[in-house]
Amino acid sequence: MQVVETISEVRRIRRVGPGSWGLVPTMGFLHAGHLALVARARQENNHVGVSIFVNPTQFGPQEDLAAYPRDLARDLAQLEAAGADLVWVPAVEEVYPPHFQTYVSVEEAARPLEGAARPGHFRGVATVVAKLFNVFQPDRAYFGQKDAQQAVVIQRMAADLAFPLDVVVCPTVREPDGLALSSRNVYLTPEQRAAAPVLYRALCAARDAWQAGERAGGRLRRIMADVLAAEPLARVDYVSAADPLTLAELEAEAEPPRGVLLSMAVRIGRARLIDNILIADADP
Ligand code: PAJ
Repeated sequence: MQVVETISEVRRIRRVGPGSWGLVPTMGFLHAGHLALVARARQENNHVGVSIFVNPTQFGPQEDLAAYPRDLARDLAQLEAAGADLVWVPAVEEVYPPHFQTYVSVEEAARPLEGAARPGHFRGVATVVAKLFNVFQPDRAYFGQKDAQQAVVIQRMAADLAFPLDVVVCPTVREPDGLALSSRNVYLTPEQRAAAPVLYRALCAARDAWQAGERAGGRLRRIMADVLAAEPLARVDYVSAADPLTLAELEAEAEPPRGVLLSMAVRIGRARLIDNILIADADP
């Protein structure tokens, strides 16, 4: 496994030898969710590249950029064991050189939900991911369903700008009690950690209602809100039952929906947790 800092080193290694490349973009502090993406990339490609970069442009001024957890030595040991070939760990100036002023903005898909709660977030995500795509030129790039809107935004960007690669979205990896793995779970105290599975319980309640035939967005959102309201430590940012492609909220009067993305953002202590369940068209 080669660990490099500059774009020119990534390009030199990328050019060596035939075979496909899979890319897993990350912000580090890796857990089993990230490693599942690396394992999938390992299965489907001859070479696996990983980036570790806490991207400042996707954090708002009041957000946790400075506090974002980091442990490069542990990340590299895990990536070596997972079979990564190349890890790019750039400095901020390598990604954003002086006078940087070129951004990628995905419009509608980036507007609601996380986009509304975190202005500029997806502009930062789309810009850094576009740059990663250009630096690595992978055949496939791997993202987690955990960040559902991010996956939609990146798929949109890749299609709109004709990036010559496949975007592969992988299932959310969870703790046994349902809490989605996240680097930000380290912010939780033991008491808050015990309360955190309420997100998944709320999502499952709405999923069960959908599977029993409920199609009204308002009622699905109410089911989730009611479960969350029973947990005193949970402060709800939003709950959503939206169209999986447009991310527009399902409303009662609309056409029969083609599926639903159930999602939410909830603050517990100083952590802001997001989670979702996607029910696609063909699902019951
Ligand atoms: P980060 O939060 O480090 O996540 C890196 C990738 O791991 C993302 O695609 C994310 O969806 C996925 N992931 C996180 N938790 C997961 C889980 N529990 N199960 C499955 N996949 C999970 O997302 C980012 O970084 C950044 O926005 C990035 C795309 C790297 C751009 O800066």
